[in-house]
Amino acid sequence: MSHVSQAPVTTPDAAPAPPAPRAYSEVKGWFSAYDQVLFDWFLTRQADDAAQRGDLLELGAFMGKSAIFLGRYLRDGEEFTVCDLFDSPPPDDSNLAEMRGSYPTLTRRGFDTNYLTFHEALPTVVQAPTSVVADRVRPDSCRFVHIDASHLHEHVVQDIESSRIVAAPGAVIVFDDYRSAHCPGVAAAVWAAVATGGLRLICVSASKLYATWDDPMPHQAALLTWLEGRTDLWHGVDVIDGRPLVRIGDEGVVAPAPPQPLRAAPEPAAAAPAKAPGPRPGAGWRRLAKDLLPPVVTRAIVARRRARR
Ligand SMILES: C[S@@+](CC[C@H](N)C(=O)[O-])C[C@H]1O[C@@H](n2cnc3c(N)ncnc32)[C@H](O)[C@@H]1O
Repeated sequence: MSHVSQAPVTTPDAAPAPPAPRAYSEVKGWFSAYDQVLFDWFLTRQADDAAQRGDLLELGAFMGKSAIFLGRYLRDGEEFTVCDLFDSPPPDDSNLAEMRGSYPTLTRRGFDTNYLTFHEALPTVVQAPTSVVADRVRPDSCRFVHIDASHLHEHVVQDIESSRIVAAPGAVIVFDDYRSAHCPGVAAAVWAAVATGGLRLICVSASKLYATWDDPMPHQAALLTWLEGRTDLWHGVDVIDGRPLVRIGDEGVVAPAPPQPLRAAPEPAAAAPAKAPGPRPGAGWRRLAKDLLPPVVTRAIVARRRARR
């Protein structure tokens, strides 16, 4: 798999490599148990459908939490592309403020270290603003697109348009933070695309919206059948502008089995052999006197010290 870097990585090569996570739970990120269950459902369903071939794409990877998860569903002959600025300069001041405020410690090396803890090879990494994605990813090639990069309105509008260009027929497009109070620009962009841009709703969780550029009915019919059998997920159907939208809520769902590290974490540095306890304060003179002075002198000193107490 190739690497495409738009701008140089600013982390000095001499900087110590970040420690590898010992478990998936140690990878920082934002990926709830129930969105993991929904990703697993959509991606496993695609895997079971020989006709649904295609690549995977993630816009906004941070330290790799969702990318590591997604990478497990890559099949032979498919490509997984991840686009993130990591530690490269953002394209504008608003994005710079967003990056400084939300991801001040993010580095490309951190992502690489985390990803390679769970996978033999990196995905295709485009270290650049997501505005380049439509030029780097083949049109009509992706079966699953996760949009979780800049949360600023104009960037999300562009990411939505890129997803339309790269989506394979029937592709699932997932939007993070589509209704969060801190990023109204995502909601504005996504709902505008639904209202007038031809984006079709499949379902929503508390933090992600699942959509497609094609007919959502096959996804929704299979999803509702699956949800009927789940007691750990609540669901209902709303009708928006004459079209159904499946709402899904968490009723104590447990995340799928997490990705496992390829290699056991290195043992902690061997503990130094336990030292013999040091001398008690005041004990030193006694040992010295015992070693060097004739016993009769030592006894006289001890007698004098006792008399003084
Ligand atoms: C919310 S985080 C991604 C979280 C990740 N998907 C997870 O589940 O842990 C958003 C990411 O988008 C990246 N980002 C922000 N603006 C960007 C832009 N204009 N182009 C590319 N990446 C951007 C940030 O560097 C950050 O890593």
